[in-house]
Amino acid sequence: MYTERELEQKVEEIDLHMPVPEQEEERQLYYLKKCRELLREQSGAAGRKMTFCVTTFGCQMNARDSEKLEGILELIGYEKADEEHADFVIYNTCTVRENANLKVYGRLGYLHSRKKKNPHLMIGLCGCMMQEPQVVEKIKKSYRFVDLIFGTHNIFKLAEILADRLERGKMVIDIWKDTDQIVENLPVDRKYPFKSGVNIMFGCNNFCSYCIVPYVRGRERSRAPEDIIAEIENLVKDGVVEVMLLGQNVNSYGKNLEQPVTFAQLLSRIAQIEGLKRIRFMTSHPKDLSDELIEVMAKYPKICRHLHLPVQSGSSEVLKAMNRRYTKEQYLALVDKIRAAVPDISLTTDIIVGFPGETEEDFQETLDVVRRVRYDSAFTFIYSKRSGTPAAAMDNQVPEETVKDRFDRLLHEVQEISKEMSSRFTGTVQEVLAEEVNDHDPSLLTGRMGNNLLVHFPGDASMIGSLLNVHLDECRGFYYMGSIVRKDGQEVE
Ligand code: SAH
Ligand code: SF4
Ligand code: F3S
Repeated sequence: MYTERELEQKVEEIDLHMPVPEQEEERQLYYLKKCRELLREQSGAAGRKMTFCVTTFGCQMNARDSEKLEGILELIGYEKADEEHADFVIYNTCTVRENANLKVYGRLGYLHSRKKKNPHLMIGLCGCMMQEPQVVEKIKKSYRFVDLIFGTHNIFKLAEILADRLERGKMVIDIWKDTDQIVENLPVDRKYPFKSGVNIMFGCNNFCSYCIVPYVRGRERSRAPEDIIAEIENLVKDGVVEVMLLGQNVNSYGKNLEQPVTFAQLLSRIAQIEGLKRIRFMTSHPKDLSDELIEVMAKYPKICRHLHLPVQSGSSEVLKAMNRRYTKEQYLALVDKIRAAVPDISLTTDIIVGFPGETEEDFQETLDVVRRVRYDSAFTFIYSKRSGTPAAAMDNQVPEETVKDRFDRLLHEVQEISKEMSSRFTGTVQEVLAEEVNDHDPSLLTGRMGNNLLVHFPGDASMIGSLLNVHLDECRGFYYMGSIVRKDGQEVE
């Protein structure tokens, strides 16, 4: 990992008259410099600085990818702007459910009208949706005004793709089907100075029968533990106190490395990094959650007392059809085991309603799991048919009306329990990471507890990024109002 200054120096040293380097990182820095020159010309013609905006759809993986895209664009010389005013707009798309796609098409129509007013406006599309060939076909046919299209496997190539577009003046499409490459050491522009996502692995091998992610994110690839640790050490030097380790199934981390490492082993190494105060991770697949991981969580208080453990359904039969490879009983036993080892843990989950063939009895099983586990919160989704997945070909799709009705009943149950669970910390003192000045009341700060719940409390901007002891005065549904506890009248660290 290079510091910003080191990267800048490397770019400075590049001679564009030399042949394009073959080594991937050097190659990208070469194109980055080339884009700089091209952008300078464009800025000169426009008589102003060029601006960009990356709009992110979907999950934390995409959010992290967007930070990488932004890092590259800033090093090229673009300035950040809001979407309304940007000269280069990139949509980093998601395709996990149909409505994620619809949103993108809707917004593209609006961008088209803006393009007629701003001749410099460029539109880029990347991310999971672009890994679907029929999507790219549709854009090529009906959205000709898009300038560049790339996928999930080659976001590190943004500078090269952009240089190509700027030189040729035509739509550039570069999509890779899959990759075994992990390119390190390119710039990243973090959204928060004090916390950061860290990819530990890419892709997914699980092929849950409803899910498109394995098709658009490719096969599972783990980063080397040394690279992950070096990245986190650098982040800590740069002021980061909290990391979120990211992977579609972190519990299978390291299995395909030359020298296999378990996720629990990685986690305990990370927990020993000095200066790092909080560690989160997601997502955990219940089938791979090991006893070793539970032990490590119990051992290191730095690891947040929060586990996102998607159940998807409470019916063993539906789970089988979903290819989740655990039963209701195994899931409940796992929850008991985790709670026995880490009693104060907060559990959250994802649930899908209306998977093909789901009966009322199956749905009752899901409600039963929700009532037994008592999640701190749950994301509930209506099943969305994704073409190419095995579930899309199942002929027993559940009627929309029935699904809607089940969804409403589930949501009600989940919210009632979540309210009760959230309020269980009222009157206690908790460690809270101050994250931002409150949107509505500037005398308040908003922060997060280890279990991810939000707390609003009086404070000032200088405290942002600090871990504070906060007394939770009152729970208001899904968040708390609190006050900082000052020990012996001394400054709180
Ligand atoms: N890798 C993560 C999930 C990634 S997708 C995991 O296995 O937990 C996030 C969530 O979207 C999933 O947990 C699932 O609940 C939901 N999801 C995925 N595909 C879906 C589909 N076709 N319809 C509805 N929800 C879906
Ligand atoms: Fe999708 Fe299943 Fe992989 Fe999660 S584990 S990304 S739900 S296939
Ligand atoms: Fe969506 Fe891709 Fe994430 S499909 S949920 S952005 S991995």
